[in-house]
Amino acid sequence: MTPSNDDRSAWLQGPASPCNSVPRVNQPRRLVLLGAPGVGKGTQADLLHRHLGACHLSTGDVFRAAGSLRECEQSPAMKDALGYMRRGELVPDSTVWEMVRERSECLHCRGGFILDGFPRTLGQAESLTQLLDREGVILTAVVNYDLATSEIVARLAGRRTCEKCKAVYHVTEQPPKIADRCDRCEGKLFQREDDRPESIRVRLEAYDRSTAPLIKFYRDLGLLVQITATGSPDEICARTLSALAVRAIRSA
Ligand code: AP5
Repeated sequence: MTPSNDDRSAWLQGPASPCNSVPRVNQPRRLVLLGAPGVGKGTQADLLHRHLGACHLSTGDVFRAAGSLRECEQSPAMKDALGYMRRGELVPDSTVWEMVRERSECLHCRGGFILDGFPRTLGQAESLTQLLDREGVILTAVVNYDLATSEIVARLAGRRTCEKCKAVYHVTEQPPKIADRCDRCEGKLFQREDDRPESIRVRLEAYDRSTAPLIKFYRDLGLLVQITATGSPDEICARTLSALAVRAIRSA
């Protein structure tokens, strides 16, 4: 595996936070992960980060980090965004875009990047294409994870997240060694508010309506890599790495 440290401060807290990431990578990969909520994008981004050294940039993690600030420290736009998130709705494009744009330096990370949860609408995808063009950054691939809805709902309903380091577990599929405690940092595990059944339904509808069309958008750009998300996280990661290797050979 590629050794690299995992400093996401500049992404999670904004450009005022210094980035101490010291990636050692020969070929930086710049990936977008697509797929329905709960398909396992965050789990795969974490594994891909460990294999490829690319930085895991999740828009959902930025909103959740803002949610743990004191209320007086949250901007009005961020308070609004947290309301959308709790209900399972998409945050308006303008708020998401503002947040990504002010972190655009992260797209130049020497280790590459793995965008997780962005873009999520055609408008966001078009804005990202323009930003990458302007910044002279080329995407390596867009990986789309595919899974039956019944399995997605089971993954979301059993998810638990560490309140300190944000590591993700599943009550039956990826349980922690000690119940409700994180294996990595011993932080307490909690269930995300948007993993309640009524929010899950809204999130899946928002995915079908707004995000699924991105599959065609990226297929038409010749960037799409399609991955079946069944099996263990390690198996899915191995499948992803070999599909990316095949793609790299073909485009060499
Ligand atoms: P975000 O945080 O991006 O959530 P999401 O896309 O809904 O995805 P999830 O984090 O729910 O799931 P995942 O695919 O990462 O799965 P995970 O690896 O955790 O966004 C949250 C909200 O923020 C949105 O609803 C929206 O409001 C807002 N937002 C964010 N970005 C936005 C944007 N660009 N525009 C507008 N709004 C935005 O896995 C799930 C569970 O399954 C875990 O328990 C895991 O342990 C388990 N699991 C994973 N892999 C496997 C496996 N292979 N086998 C068995 N279990 C597995």
